[in-house]
Parts: sequence; structure tokens; C-alpha cells
Amino acid sequence: MNSEITEKKAVVLSGIRATGRLHLGNYLGAVRHFVEYQTGSNRCMYFVADWHSLTECPDPTKLRGNLIEMVTDYLAAGLDPEKSIIYAQSSVPEIAELSLCLSMLQPLGRLQGLTTVKDLVRKHGSATLGLVTYPVLMAADILGPKATVIPVGEDQTANVELARELARRFNNRYGETFPMPEAIKEKIKVPGLNGEKMGKSDAVNAVDIGAPIDDMRRRYLKDGITDPARKTRSDPGDPNKCLSVYPVHALVTPEAELSRVGRQCRGAEIGCVECKNLLVDNLAKLIEPFQAKRQELDSKRSEVVEILHEGGKQARRIISETVAEVREKMGIVIY
Ligand code: TRP
Ligand code: SF4
Repeated sequence: MNSEITEKKAVVLSGIRATGRLHLGNYLGAVRHFVEYQTGSNRCMYFVADWHSLTECPDPTKLRGNLIEMVTDYLAAGLDPEKSIIYAQSSVPEIAELSLCLSMLQPLGRLQGLTTVKDLVRKHGSATLGLVTYPVLMAADILGPKATVIPVGEDQTANVELARELARRFNNRYGETFPMPEAIKEKIKVPGLNGEKMGKSDAVNAVDIGAPIDDMRRRYLKDGITDPARKTRSDPGDPNKCLSVYPVHALVTPEAELSRVGRQCRGAEIGCVECKNLLVDNLAKLIEPFQAKRQELDSKRSEVVEILHEGGKQARRIISETVAEVREKMGIVIY
């Protein structure tokens, strides 16, 4: 293999829409992994996709607030501005310019047939232009910094595939420009209390990682669905059929303890109440440091704003370079 390519550092990039505070699912399924990439020679770029949030035309004050909340949660979770570039998508107007340029290479039919777009249209009941071009804007997010590693949930891989197609089409038409971005699927679908995937705006199902541990415990004890076939304490259970408790144990509980819990469940040697208490104890070990950091950051809003400002400048420097190259290749001159 070409050593120049193997030695090139990875550009890791991912974004989350500004829809509010993180819940346990975002944290365990995504942001925890973002933190792990911040080592070695990776260039990590994590942003809040505030333009993408506009597809829902949220209340402007709420959107502004959510952006700051999200970044504060990113920081509390361990994203480090010394190691990662942390920014708001809208701090880099060149992303919109790139999206415009890429849209010229994007057949409309392919967009309309994309499952991610169809799901959004179904959810909204109608399709705005912005909604249909959502994946093109996402391709611009990815290709702008020439990102190569894109950690995303399973639901976003079709959009990353579209970014790959656009990269290929651009490279064929205008010459080698973009490296191929690779989606790294974070396979973990974190179930909420009712056993379904934890949804962002679904307050019944989702577990807020900012909530006091006692609340979390109360909610798991009261509403956390276990193995529906296990009616009483003396019935043996099946951890693989346990809908909301065991799958989260599997993400946070140390291996030896996890296999003991599984064994004891099968042998009816542990009750679901005890099992839920153990889970929340283990969650607390992960979440308490997050909450402490979050509280500290809450009194330092101006520092958070400064991080966004600096991150925006860094991202803009990197992305502008690509967009200048794209402009040049496509024949656009700024007079
Ligand atoms: N569409 C993603 C989501 O809804 C967020 C996002 C926007 C994104 N741009 C991106 C993720 C670029 C990865 C790379 O979760
Ligand atoms: Fe689920 Fe634990 Fe109850 Fe087994 S003991 S069904 S793993 S909550």
C-alpha cells in the first residue's frame, strides 16, 4: 500500500443536531466514542449541526439555547478543545457554499429515494427543499474538512454513503480532491425505559444524563421493562429478552459482574429490583463525573462561547481551503 496514504492522519468528524440536552443514548451510543478518538495523531472535528436543526424550524431562542446546551454537554462528556475542534456548523459559511456546489452534482431522484429523506418527509408530513437536500449539506460537512472517519449511528450510514458518491462524482469530474469518508457504525442502539430505541424528544422513554441519580433510579425501578415473561422473583429470567435493563448493563457493567448478573437472572437468584439497582449504581459511576463537570461548566458560559468561537475559526480555516480548491476546480472566480 502507498505509505503516504497509510501515514496520513485520520480526520474524524461527527455532528449532532441541536435538539436539546444529551440523553443516555447519545452519550453511550455516540459521544463516549467521540471521546475515544481524541488520541494519537487523529484530527478530530465535532460540531453541532444547527443548520440541520432548522429543518424543523424550531423557536429561535430555543435553538440558540440548545446549541450552547449541546456543546456544554459535549465538553462535560470529555471532548477537549485542546484535542478536538469543537464548533457550530453555522460558524463556517463555506459549508453552505460547498453544499451549493455539490448540489449541482446530485441527481434529485436519488435524494428523494433515500430512506433517511423518506423518513424525514414522513415525520414532517411534507418535504421542504431544505429537508430533501439535508444529505447534501451533510456531505458538505464531511467533505469540507476532507474527513475520513465518520462515527455515526446506523440511521445515518445512508447519508454517509451519499457523501461518498458525491466525493467520487466530484473526483471523476474535476480531478482527485476528496478522500473517501468511511462510516464507522456505532452499532449500539441504546434502549430507553420501554425497550425501544431512546428517542430524543421522547421524554417517557429517554433517560436524561443530567437528571439526579435518584430520579434515574426511581424511573428504572418503576418503568424499566425487564423480561416480560418473568412474572415473579422466583421465575427464571432470560437476560437476552430483558428489554431495558440488561442491554444497558451490557454497555456499562464490567464483564465479570455482567456475566454473574446474567447467570443469576437465569437461575432466579437475583430479582429485577436488585438488578436495576446494580445497573443504576454502575451508571452513576459513569455519569457522576459528567454531572460534576457539567455543573462546573454551567457557571462558565463565556468559556463555552469562547471555545465555540475558537473552534469556529479553526474549522473555517481548514474548510475554506477545501472550498477555495473546489471553487477553482469548478471555474468560479471571486472578483
Ligand atoms: N444528520 C446527523 C444526525 O441527525 C447529524 C449530522 C449532520 C452529521 N452533519 C453530519 C453526522 C456529518 C455526521 C457527519 O444525527
Ligand atoms: Fe432483566 Fe435483570 Fe430482571 Fe434479568 S434480573 S430480567 S436481566 S432486570
